[in-house]
Amino acid sequence: PMLLARLQTRPSLPPESVSKLHAAYLLETLSGGMPDPFSAKVMEVSLILYAEHELNASTFAARVTASSLSDIYSGVTSAIGTLKGPLHGGANEAVMKMLLELAQNGDVERYLADKLAKNERVMGFGHRVLKREDPRSNIIKRYAKELGLKKGKLKWFEISEALETVMRREKGLYPNLDFYTASAYALLNLPVELYTPIFVCSRIAGWTAHIIEQLEHNRLIRPRCRYVGKKNVPFIPLEERD
Ligand code: COA
Repeated sequence: PMLLARLQTRPSLPPESVSKLHAAYLLETLSGGMPDPFSAKVMEVSLILYAEHELNASTFAARVTASSLSDIYSGVTSAIGTLKGPLHGGANEAVMKMLLELAQNGDVERYLADKLAKNERVMGFGHRVLKREDPRSNIIKRYAKELGLKKGKLKWFEISEALETVMRREKGLYPNLDFYTASAYALLNLPVELYTPIFVCSRIAGWTAHIIEQLEHNRLIRPRCRYVGKKNVPFIPLEERD
């Protein structure tokens, strides 16, 4: 409600400055104060990097929904539901929770040894398509470091870099875009629960472009699946099953 009130009381800006200041305006609305130019730049870079990434899971979900000739809002809603998962856009929030946990006990080597021994995923690493370095991650990493230096708060960056070193050594896995975005957003004083919604604010450009493209040459997306289970199995009533 506070956010809504702030949005409603904002004086309207002329359209040309809104487009120039989109990132600064979003950051001001979310953090409650006019950002310094470098913070606004970091937000802008983050929004650009998040805007589009071909047929990722949420974009695919949006296209599937659009392909049934449902409306654009439903396409975006499907995409949001898909983005929310920690294996996709929810990873940036999961990374921050890991950094907060590590800031308490601080032992990156032990933390990762324990997680990897249990075969658990470490959020912010790996990618379905990018099996080596994620070029987007290298860009946001530079900005997260510079922001940390400017604000005299390198804690998040240092924990992240230690995680990166161990993950590369132990698993040959590289950070994805969500990894250093978490450190950058922490330094922009953004609440953790808004990290994935901010991803939505940017990726909506990609989703809606894909929906429009889908509708230009639409055909229902309907993959087939092949049954590989047992055949000719006798029916056993529910109450007689083990
Ligand atoms: N932490 C630990 N191990 C990981 C890992 C991670 N983040 N990502 C991949 N691996 C391991 C897998 O366990 C697998 O090992 P195995 O063959 O011994 O079982 C191997 O690397 C290959 O992974 P795979 O499951 O084939 O990758 P994928 O293409 O199916 O999955 C992700 C891609 C993104 C879902 C996966 O890397 C992941 O879960 N990452 C963490 C979530 C995340 O950051 N998501 C944002 C993506 S932009």
